[in-house]
Amino acid sequence: MFNKTKEYMQKVKEQIRQYETTEDMHAQLSDMFRYWQEKYFKPRFFEIFGANNHLDFYWKPLAERIQKTGCRDVISFGSGDAQVEVGVAAGLKREGINDFRFHCVELSPVQIKRAQEFVKKAGLEDNFVFVEADFNTWVSNEQMFAGAMCHHALHHVLDLEHLIASIRAALHPQGCFVSIDVVGRNGHMRWPEALELIEYIWRFLPEEKRYHHILKTLDKEYVNRDCSTQGFEGIRSQDILPILNQNFKFEKFFAFGNLVDVFTSRGYGANYNSNDELDKAFIDFIQYLNDLLIDLGHIKPTRMCAVMVLEDKEPVRTYKNWTPEFCIRMPDLPS
Ligand SMILES: C[S@@+](CC[C@H](N)C(=O)[O-])C[C@H]1O[C@@H](n2cnc3c(N)ncnc32)[C@H](O)[C@@H]1O
Repeated sequence: MFNKTKEYMQKVKEQIRQYETTEDMHAQLSDMFRYWQEKYFKPRFFEIFGANNHLDFYWKPLAERIQKTGCRDVISFGSGDAQVEVGVAAGLKREGINDFRFHCVELSPVQIKRAQEFVKKAGLEDNFVFVEADFNTWVSNEQMFAGAMCHHALHHVLDLEHLIASIRAALHPQGCFVSIDVVGRNGHMRWPEALELIEYIWRFLPEEKRYHHILKTLDKEYVNRDCSTQGFEGIRSQDILPILNQNFKFEKFFAFGNLVDVFTSRGYGANYNSNDELDKAFIDFIQYLNDLLIDLGHIKPTRMCAVMVLEDKEPVRTYKNWTPEFCIRMPDLPS
């Protein structure tokens, strides 16, 4: 049984505080991130999932499983203000599925309140159930789900083994688990092989490209910050992919990111202008290098989109040969 120590409860408090004043956590994405997303992310994402955006990515497999299993319940973990779930629900409705129930598991009462308001505005109150709970201890109440999703919240899970086992136990045998998340090094740090390259690149950068817009600091040297020191941000991100790989069969999988994350991030992305040819050429070069080094196995992707199932299916659909196994970055062995 999970031990809720004083230290753990302190982290829970910090975690709730993290989003207390964040009205829209997907805001603040840089213009250069959008450039990169349109040019590199979207075509590959579409090729694998047949989805134009993250909402299509989630509702399509969930709709398929609701229809296949006859089970009307789906569940989302770390659902935050449920903006994504409301968009997913709209997709289910467009598909002619009206009698589904969306269970939203969320730790923060502040987020749940925002979500309830959002659901009410969308006229979807009859379709939503809110569960204020900690996903590190959550277990299903004998309820069976056609599908489960987790959008950008697995990187907040401390007891990944527990949550993944609980999801498996709660899924219909023909159900699916769908997720988009950050799977790089804990605390969103760079692994040594990527850090070395970022430090080389940093030396070429003029000062105006080294400014961190969230922290409002000029990083003369690149700082390999650990975001997991407060709350659960990136607490075990490097374990997500290996644990998913042990517990699920991947139906579709797309991995991306690493060096390019730094230059398109909320922190540094605003230093680049998508109308500037030189800035675009720089991002294009970093993306080229990123792809090449992943192909060579020198660096590993830091983010993933995955549709997972319990039963063996056809071989996983991936971008190139970038399968889940290929994309796992094993932690360094102690020397
Ligand atoms: C990065 S946010 C993502 C929110 C939402 N899925 C989205 O994409 O807008 C992570 C969410 O997980 C929630 N969370 C963090 N730790 C949790 C826990 N132990 N149990 C349940 N939810 C948790 C946070 O409160 C937050 O709403």
